[in-house]
Amino acid sequence: MNSWILKDSNYKESYQLKETLFSVANGYLGVRGSFEEGLNKEILTVRGTYINGFYEKEEIIYGEKLHGFPNNSESILNVIDTQGIKIRINEEEFSLDKGEVLSFERELNFKKGIATRKVHWRSPKGNEIHIEFKRLISFIQKELFLIQMEVEALNFDGVIEIVSKIDGDVSNIIVEEDPRVGSANAKALKVINVKQENNCSFIEAKTKNSNLIVVSGIAHKYPKEFIESILTEQKNSNHFIKGSLLQGKKNIFTKYAVYTDTIRYKNEISKNVEILNSVLTYDFNHFAFLQEEYLNDFWKSSNIEINGDEKMQQAIRFNIFHLLQSTGKDQWSNISAKGLSGEGYEGHYFWDTEIYIFPFFLFTNPNLAKNLLNYRYTILDYARKRAKQMGHTTGALYPWRTISGNECSPFFPAGTAQYHINVDIAYSIIQYFEVTEDIGFMIEKGMEMLAEMARLMYHIGHFRNDGKFCIDAVTGPDEYTCIVNNNYYTNVLTKNLFDKIGAIWNSIKETHKGELEKISNKIKFNEEELINFEKAGNKMYLPFDKERKLHPQDDSFFNKKVWDFENTPKENYPLLLNYHPLTLYRHQVCKQADTILGHFLLEGETELEFIKNDYNYYEKITTHDSSLSTCIFSIMANRIGKYKEAYDYFMNTSRLDIDNLHHNTENGIHTACMGGSWMSIVFGFAGMRVINGELSFRPNLPKNWESLNFRINFKNRVLNCNLETNTIEIKLIDGQPLKICVNNNLIEVN
Ligand code: BGC
Repeated sequence: MNSWILKDSNYKESYQLKETLFSVANGYLGVRGSFEEGLNKEILTVRGTYINGFYEKEEIIYGEKLHGFPNNSESILNVIDTQGIKIRINEEEFSLDKGEVLSFERELNFKKGIATRKVHWRSPKGNEIHIEFKRLISFIQKELFLIQMEVEALNFDGVIEIVSKIDGDVSNIIVEEDPRVGSANAKALKVINVKQENNCSFIEAKTKNSNLIVVSGIAHKYPKEFIESILTEQKNSNHFIKGSLLQGKKNIFTKYAVYTDTIRYKNEISKNVEILNSVLTYDFNHFAFLQEEYLNDFWKSSNIEINGDEKMQQAIRFNIFHLLQSTGKDQWSNISAKGLSGEGYEGHYFWDTEIYIFPFFLFTNPNLAKNLLNYRYTILDYARKRAKQMGHTTGALYPWRTISGNECSPFFPAGTAQYHINVDIAYSIIQYFEVTEDIGFMIEKGMEMLAEMARLMYHIGHFRNDGKFCIDAVTGPDEYTCIVNNNYYTNVLTKNLFDKIGAIWNSIKETHKGELEKISNKIKFNEEELINFEKAGNKMYLPFDKERKLHPQDDSFFNKKVWDFENTPKENYPLLLNYHPLTLYRHQVCKQADTILGHFLLEGETELEFIKNDYNYYEKITTHDSSLSTCIFSIMANRIGKYKEAYDYFMNTSRLDIDNLHHNTENGIHTACMGGSWMSIVFGFAGMRVINGELSFRPNLPKNWESLNFRINFKNRVLNCNLETNTIEIKLIDGQPLKICVNNNLIEVN
């Protein structure tokens, strides 16, 4: 097995799933791995092309709309389709449904950033051809999607006719019975212009409500003796390319597709023409070379090498590659729950970014991590507005799910009530500052966000009669337990923000007093607020059952009945598809890690003995119906010495998409889980932590692994970490020597 490649040789099965797995993207643009020529009508396909941050909004129709409910939903849109290429050979249409497929092989190469499909096909009349398709979405020229097709006639001379299409007649999918897919208006994009200019075709399409425009332009290169004609129609344009095939001669056709949109460009049409003309001066190989160069650089800092476990090696590289493909690299976009590989969860950005994906970028590509925080700063005004709508006189409340910045979660118990999104973002900002020491970011954006979020959290809490600071009526990460008082996770992460904000503020003030004054003036921040935060942090109530030596997930959790797992048939999982939410809320049953996640993020807040107790308790009542769960259990199983469990949970995490373990990868990859697989290795098996600005390791290599190797960025240094059975070796690749902790011993790395 080549672990840099995902391969497939069975095109007949799981077509939609493979459209997801073989999708190509660059964080701006994503195209699912559909066949250019299409397939017979009975096979379900989601032929999707997506632009990060490009959405339609739709009024949410509530039976009963109460104050503060969001007005609109937002959905990522399937935009103009440029995948289509039909081929006729001596008047016979090339299709895998017809004739005979003598061989079929497809692969996604993580080093090259190219998806390839090779087919040896015999037509019903016996003409044999070999076709190789290559697809690339450029990391260098983000608007560019390229398809190269190489055709060779193997046993005949003849004529080839190609119809390459650009199609504005597109729609989103709707799966009403599954809340994890979409509820978008299927036909939200209206074509407003189709035009031809020289040998290029352009389609301009507009959304109805969000008023966004996307433009796509295509053009082709082919052997010079071929001829081309173009026919534009109301919603599409077809390029007819015709020529002769000579036995044994390879013919190369390249399709250039460029996407621009109104979010990024003032004049999206002229920009499209300009980019298309400029890319046409280069061939496919040029972009393939740049792609590989970009990825070489990326893998230098991001590779994880596992010796002795090929399946895991492949899975982690697949996951890391998809994370890079999914992450927005400009201020208007973030990482959606499904990346740019499908329409699941409507393309929304969740806390998944900060808690599950951010750490990978932070420790390998801090600039990409910073961009994720920049996006949150871009939508800070929306969060301020949302706080007001929710009745808070001060501060900012980030949306639970969004694309543009507006809250669009219609089901508030498992949506808006998850106020922990604020302290998750705060956790990331604090972590970013600890790991990068980037004061510039804190002055420009970070402190302002922290202050606004702290204000909001302070505003929703209160000091109880016994002086404890409590937070009522929120939902923690576990979506099977909603609207509770004192969710341990929310409280402990809020405490973290309250405990740290004052110290960060004061430390920056020492060197940048003027800048902090500017922030204070801008948001009318009175430094006395820091004293309140500190007091609330010191007095934060963290629920604990002294007799059982356990942390209840919230005030009422232990009073509830434990779910009857024994009598729950297998097919009733995930429970959310088979039980009314209230049935779930009345029981002790968890969809995902909650208290255990709090322990992982803020281990110092309790004792190891209680962490062990909690792990053992919550493990029994957690269904892992959310793909965000097993990675956290894997990390914490490692922490408490349950190594076999750690490995089993890791297997579930790392191969979740490749092996379709949740049976819904056809709707898109699970980006949080992919980030979680990186975390399970680095925080789990290598036991890495940053505590009070210090780096430490507590390694436990799985028995069947010979070695593990990865790099991390930490405080302007690059470190290489190599683990073998009982050893860990950390080398300084770049930067100044530093002290780190390995198994509680302080060592100098130089
Ligand atoms: C999880 C959430 C998560 C969302 C998107 C849900 O199933 O419960 O925690 O944010 O999926 O991945």
